Amino acid sequence: MKIKEIFDLGIKLGIEADFRGKEGVDKYLDKRKERYESLSEAKKEFFDKSALENPYMDSNIYNIINDGEIKKILAGVDIEGEELLLADKLGNIDLVIGHHPEGKSLAWLADVMNLQIDVLNYYGVPINQAESVTRERISEVARSVNGANHNRAVDMAKLLNLNFLNIHTPADNLAADFLKKKIEDNNPEYVEDIIKIFEEILEYREAMKLGVGPKIFVGSEGNRCGKIALTELTGGTEGSEKMYEKLAQAGVGTIIGMHMSEKNKKEAEANNINVVIAGHISSDSLGMNLFLDELEKKGIEIIPCSGLIRVKRF
Ligand SMILES: [Fe+2]
Repeated sequence: MKIKEIFDLGIKLGIEADFRGKEGVDKYLDKRKERYESLSEAKKEFFDKSALENPYMDSNIYNIINDGEIKKILAGVDIEGEELLLADKLGNIDLVIGHHPEGKSLAWLADVMNLQIDVLNYYGVPINQAESVTRERISEVARSVNGANHNRAVDMAKLLNLNFLNIHTPADNLAADFLKKKIEDNNPEYVEDIIKIFEEILEYREAMKLGVGPKIFVGSEGNRCGKIALTELTGGTEGSEKMYEKLAQAGVGTIIGMHMSEKNKKEAEANNINVVIAGHISSDSLGMNLFLDELEKKGIEIIPCSGLIRVKRF
């Protein structure tokens, strides 16, 4: 496989696992194309055209130095200078794949949060309310990443002659879809039953050995789950704290997420919603593994690094 084929496969898998369905993703891209067409020529010049095809702009190919067949990949959750130096030291690494966004993927991170609007709507929050609370948070995230040194790692990869890309939301979609199916198949009644489901998943078992296994952030083991919503597994980063009131009104009793800030935890608590946190890096690993499996099946060697708990499912 070549780099573009690997990247396109990641995007395709992400669309197949998307809460919005392929139709919803297509609609999202159509709206973006409409907006692009209405831009002035001067503004069009600065618009990244890849955004017309890629619904997950927090995932991009940063640079292609050598566009040959990819045989060996170094893959990690966070690819920074250390990991790029590691790739150089290991040698024979044809491609480095990160999960968390760098470069222009980081600049576009807030954009994928639009997915959260549809996830909230999927669980019963009226679309206008989901839009209102999420849009405020999207602009907050856009400002928060604004001051970053976006291209630091990308520059280093170029200097080291390393091919470099990242897959973020498509992998998170894969993790969310995987866990959604597990929850639906097992239909847990109590919060402790959710924990038991996670304890059977190898990435979380490994995380438990490190002391960062699934945890109940709000509520207790003996609480009834009620309606379970997987609202915080995909969609860029943490959503608005204002969503918990809306979710409670929509009848949600338990939320499953990757990670949660104290501010959001307090709001979930105030709204009597149980919160089960699966774990951040373990959930990121699960999503990346589902993607990396498809590459390994094609004979590509995967070397995990930077926290990635590699588990094969084939
Ligand atoms: Fe993450």
